[in-house]
Amino acid sequence: MIRWHAIYTRDVDTSTIVILDFGSQYTQLIARRIREFNVFSVVLPCTASLEQVRALKPKGLILSGGPSSVYDADAPKADPAVLSMGAPVLGICYGLQFITHHLGGKVESAPAREYGHAQVTVVAETTLFRGLPQTLDVWMSHGDEAKSLPEGFHLTAKTSNAVAGIADESRRIWAVQFHPEVAHTRQGMELLKNFCIDICGAKQDWTPEHFIQSTVEKIRAQVGDGHAICGLSGGVDSSVAAVLVARAIGDRLTCIFVNNGVLRKDEFAKVQRNMREGLGLNVVAIDAGERFLTKLAGVTDPEKKRKIIGNEFIAVFDDEATKIFEAEKSAGEEVAWLVQGTLYPDVIESSSVHGPSHTIKSHHNVGGLPENMKLKLIEPLRDLFKDEVRRIGRDLGMPEEILERQPFPGPGLAVRILGEVTADRVALLQEADEIVVTEIKAAGLYRKVWQSFAVLLPVKSVGVMGDQRTYAYTCAIRAVESEDGMTADWAPLPYEVLRTISSRIVSEVRGINRVVYDITSKPPGTIEWE
Ligand code: XMP
Repeated sequence: MIRWHAIYTRDVDTSTIVILDFGSQYTQLIARRIREFNVFSVVLPCTASLEQVRALKPKGLILSGGPSSVYDADAPKADPAVLSMGAPVLGICYGLQFITHHLGGKVESAPAREYGHAQVTVVAETTLFRGLPQTLDVWMSHGDEAKSLPEGFHLTAKTSNAVAGIADESRRIWAVQFHPEVAHTRQGMELLKNFCIDICGAKQDWTPEHFIQSTVEKIRAQVGDGHAICGLSGGVDSSVAAVLVARAIGDRLTCIFVNNGVLRKDEFAKVQRNMREGLGLNVVAIDAGERFLTKLAGVTDPEKKRKIIGNEFIAVFDDEATKIFEAEKSAGEEVAWLVQGTLYPDVIESSSVHGPSHTIKSHHNVGGLPENMKLKLIEPLRDLFKDEVRRIGRDLGMPEEILERQPFPGPGLAVRILGEVTADRVALLQEADEIVVTEIKAAGLYRKVWQSFAVLLPVKSVGVMGDQRTYAYTCAIRAVESEDGMTADWAPLPYEVLRTISSRIVSEVRGINRVVYDITSKPPGTIEWE
């Protein structure tokens, strides 16, 4: 059985800001904002030990917000020693209360919860607010407030009825009650910049060029003369990961791309072309469509479909990888590597204070991994957010078509065909889906919506075409706006676009005579229909 060796650890070579996560929904946003001005940031659970924090040699420390009260029995706790470890500290929301509480001040439940837009008045000069106006429009979200400040602290900002900012410059601790990381706080970026650059002295050295250069060097050193394989999906993450690794080890990287029978129209050919000609990757393409469809015959349960596709993928990938490595072995090479496009949010979630189950849905991790080979893992995107992956891709010269591709689920069209998946139904959905994507692109909406696609409902209804009565399937159009896929709103597509999509599908796709638009948000709906 497999033994995974997650050997990719970060060597600290860029200025780093450590964010201790107390469970706020905005924690990742703090990290992203800071990276937007090219300073590297790392999120650690608030329970991280002092040694773990120190190991990252942080230039500064940010204590995030959180949903608890400092007095709750299960309130997330950090080691208060982080407040005196020498690096400047910025507390945000719960972070302010944590600092107040642990340094001898008093936090109380506020008479009224402050939530939403608020105005804050700056009442003392401090480097944190340098260059900011005296009145700030901010975003608040808290139920507790600081009532008395710890010794040495003074008030730096207030709302009409509560503490909004405190500082003890001699201890190099600053804190704000509002959320600078949220876009509603207008000068939030400047505030974070003041902290990271002016107060902490962080260098703005987290740039795509730096990342690419140091990652390529690291991979080269890790892999040595070894060989690596990478499963390609055609999407952004696996493609960027593959291109980075290929930069490091050239054609000792073999990419495997599998047709699972439930790809979109012409996708098998298109992805191969893009990857080989566009990106110069060494691609082994396996047309296993029939094998998958045979296994899916008669299956209607969505989870069973997912499992079958996941398992079959592993089997196909495994066979191919074994062949590749056997060939390498006979050439005297034994070290085998697997490239994965794991992103930073997955890394954070799996070590979050809530534990992995809180946010990650198991089915979203079905990537299909070979189970019985001893492979070492290369995860070149482990430190990156999705928008950073796109930036890196751009710097690597990758085409926009790949970088801006909407997410597409591993089980593909199988979770968009309700009920049994057959070759005929796949072909029908491919045609309808192609029309949706083409029209959304033509209307200039492809990048504005998170996902836009067709779903096949194998329920027949009556229609009329010319003088003929029809009796055919229904197609549902799904288009959603979202930041991260966790929550989503149905997109208000212009009627004209819907009209064109509908009339094209009904007249061009034989077998579909009715088109409906899905106006369900997530929650309570999901993005995919199965
Ligand atoms: P739901 O349908 O749960 O989807 O709202 C949220 C996001 O996840 C994608 N998704 C999947 N991705 N394997 C994947 O790789 C899956 O089984 C799967 N199911 C949903 C979905 O497309 C959306 O972006």
